[in-house]
Amino acid sequence: MKKTASPYITVKQSSIHSNGVFAKKNIPAGTRVIEYVGEKITKAESDRRAEVVLNVNKTDNTKGAVYIFTLNKRYDIDGNVSYNTARLINHSCSPNCEAQLVRGHIWIVALKDIQRGEELTYNYGYDFDSYEEHPCRCGSPDCVGYILAEEHWPKLKARHLTHRPKRKLSHEEIVRHQEKFRRKPKVPVILVLDNIRSAHNVGAAFRTADGAGIEKIYLCGITAYPPNSQIDKTALGAQCSVAWEYHNNVADVLKDIKARGYQVILLEQTDASFDYADFEAKQPVCLVVGNEIEGVSEIAFHLADRAMEIPMFGEKNSLNVSVACGVAVYHISHSLRTHLRS
Ligand SMILES: C[S@@+](CC[C@H](N)C(=O)[O-])C[C@H]1O[C@@H](n2cnc3c(N)ncnc32)[C@H](O)[C@@H]1O
Ligand SMILES: [Zn+2]
Repeated sequence: MKKTASPYITVKQSSIHSNGVFAKKNIPAGTRVIEYVGEKITKAESDRRAEVVLNVNKTDNTKGAVYIFTLNKRYDIDGNVSYNTARLINHSCSPNCEAQLVRGHIWIVALKDIQRGEELTYNYGYDFDSYEEHPCRCGSPDCVGYILAEEHWPKLKARHLTHRPKRKLSHEEIVRHQEKFRRKPKVPVILVLDNIRSAHNVGAAFRTADGAGIEKIYLCGITAYPPNSQIDKTALGAQCSVAWEYHNNVADVLKDIKARGYQVILLEQTDASFDYADFEAKQPVCLVVGNEIEGVSEIAFHLADRAMEIPMFGEKNSLNVSVACGVAVYHISHSLRTHLRS
């Protein structure tokens, strides 16, 4: 049998898995890109083949998926045949295509406008039963981590919220897991470091800013700025991934940030500070963190809109500035992300 072809596609190596199918030219939404063909088999035969594939998958989860599509009440199509070029289309959690049954034929149809060079994907629609055996490497920012039908995604989330962990992730798995956050847009939170004495604390703030995915750090007054070997020590590379600017004058920085619509909040114990945990961010936030001994500068104090504090339940009356910064930045960015999603 001759391999099926389509004027829209070409097969080449994929970053998702082995070979994939790519757009040879722009494909408008709604286009029937290529037919998914194969052997027409009865339901009984279909069940038998699915069982065989499942057993193979138990020992090697890189080995073929179930290639079977429902055709009608009596027959299915097994696409696991070399002439079915559409079988090479990889799965994605943010697919640009879907399989549609059109008058007894299965078509791969574009769900959106696809640009030349983009990889074609659809959601394989796997069951929930054995999802752990099929980790997803689609690399999309919305990747749920497994090849799984979208209808099961809420169950997956609930399961991860309630189940006790069975093992720690390997370094490789952590890196892969992080991929799904890496390309998410930054949250509109700015951190201003106002006269920070220790360059180690500056480096730690960079690391927090990177982890929390905030927009930018402004380093003001005596605060050290890159390149600086002490910053490098604690930032561990985050000084290169987080946008930053140095300004001697914190007042100029805060006036400009306020004019851009940010609410300026001090991380400081004042006569009107609120508990950071009660803060619900509803607009872009600029958090100002001050000197280890003196706190925020007078001028920053006067320009700020509000002040928040982290309650202290022990003997000491304050946290290390980089620890406090981590607590506050994570809380604010989580709160603002939640607000922006709603
Ligand atoms: C139908 S084949 C797809 C074509 C395949 N890339 C090839 O070169 O043969 C299905 C297999 O590709 C792999 N695959 C497809 N999409 C994937 C994804 N998003 N993440 C991980 N593996 C994927 C899985 O091993 C799956 O069993
Ligand atoms: Zn995915």
